[in-house]
Amino acid sequence: MDSIWIRGGNKLNGEIPISGAKNAALTLMPCALLTEDKLTLTNLPRLADVDTFGHLLNQLGVSTSVAGVKKGEFGRRMTLHAGELASTVAPYDMVRRMRASVLVLGPMLARAGEATVSLPGGCAIGDRPIDLHLKVLESMGAEIELAAGYVKATAPKGRLSGGDYSFPVVSVGATENALMAAVLASGRTQLFNAAREPEIVDLCNLLVAMGAKISGIGSAHLIIDGVEGLHGTTYEVMPDRIEAGSYACAAGITGGSISLIGARPDDMCATLNALAQAGLMIEFHDRGIKVSADGKLRPLALSTAPFPGFATDMQAQFMAMLCMAQGQSYLEETIFENRYMHVPELRRMSASVDIHGRSAIVHGVDGLTGASVMATDLRASMSLVLAGLAAEGETEVLRVYHLDRGYERLEEKLSAVGATIERRSSG
Ligand code: EPZ
Repeated sequence: MDSIWIRGGNKLNGEIPISGAKNAALTLMPCALLTEDKLTLTNLPRLADVDTFGHLLNQLGVSTSVAGVKKGEFGRRMTLHAGELASTVAPYDMVRRMRASVLVLGPMLARAGEATVSLPGGCAIGDRPIDLHLKVLESMGAEIELAAGYVKATAPKGRLSGGDYSFPVVSVGATENALMAAVLASGRTQLFNAAREPEIVDLCNLLVAMGAKISGIGSAHLIIDGVEGLHGTTYEVMPDRIEAGSYACAAGITGGSISLIGARPDDMCATLNALAQAGLMIEFHDRGIKVSADGKLRPLALSTAPFPGFATDMQAQFMAMLCMAQGQSYLEETIFENRYMHVPELRRMSASVDIHGRSAIVHGVDGLTGASVMATDLRASMSLVLAGLAAEGETEVLRVYHLDRGYERLEEKLSAVGATIERRSSG
């Protein structure tokens, strides 16, 4: 298993190209199931999760071909073609490896009138049920059967009818499955309290480009009028707002200045506001966003929330940065029940963090110290890398496969702005 080795203490300065968004790619790729035409996605990030999703789609009969990019460039071009489906079953060994596999449920049901998907099971950050995915599909006429750890969904007479559904809690994935199911239903679907994340907007924009009829895009009230069929298109994946926010925290924790090339300010208002409150300078230019720090960080009080609130996917990275703030910060994780796995590892780097249920108190310290630390989940791993960038001495982040799920060529991007960092393979 590979690890990432860092010698901390360098101020990071320069430009980081922001890759296509993982959480957009994972909902755009299954849209290929909705048409017999070819779907081409550009600016696709080179990530383990994207490759895993491609393998799952291959098992369903979707052919995928990828055009590489020249050395030093980012953003692959993938053409997906679901001429005819070979299977409508997403097996356990695929789904347990990547929860987002459940996003084939809606489009498969819409395309083939049936879908069998393994229940995802929990993951490091929480139980993560899919009850809302199933309830919203039932509201469109789907019949749902649970057996032997699998969900079998069927559309009576082979086609969903559409319907109204109000989400009791905001769910990104359930909103995405609902959208991909509703676009080919025989009637109108209205979603209330739908997720408004930029990745949802990206999905709606792709579906409309394929011929879908959707209104209310960007709002919590989505109206989808089903159509007889969708056609292929070529579509560019949006930039990754979480990757951009993570590297902004790298500027903050090292007292440096990083230009996030390709980042879109409107996708990350809450993150940028929090960075500014912490004392960073934010400048907008024609190629992206420049984030600069002067080494004096102010403490914050942050509570995670659905978009446009402060993203749960940014919590661990901000916690690492706030370990170096002058004073006490307060974090509240309202979305997932177990998203503080990074804390015990940060403590081993001399961080001072107290956890009380879903709340964390971060006591700023004068300095962090390097250590060998264990990654547990994607964003927790990034918080350990950030701590290592500022820590005195050497840090080794083990189980780096967690990082590879969501950060494209992280060590290359950080080296380019002055980090002393390398990937080490332990055989
Ligand atoms: C998406 O996960 C993202 N993943 C997550 O990013 C992100 O943290 C999350 O949205 C919230 O923004 C992808 O897009 C691939 P949810 P998702 O459904 O869709 C509960 C990362 O680091 N819930 O919005 O699974 C759930 O337990 C990953 O990139 C139900 O109760 O999140 C959670 O408490 C981590 N029943 C809350 O809703 C359901 O049927 C929000 O989950 C579905 C969800």
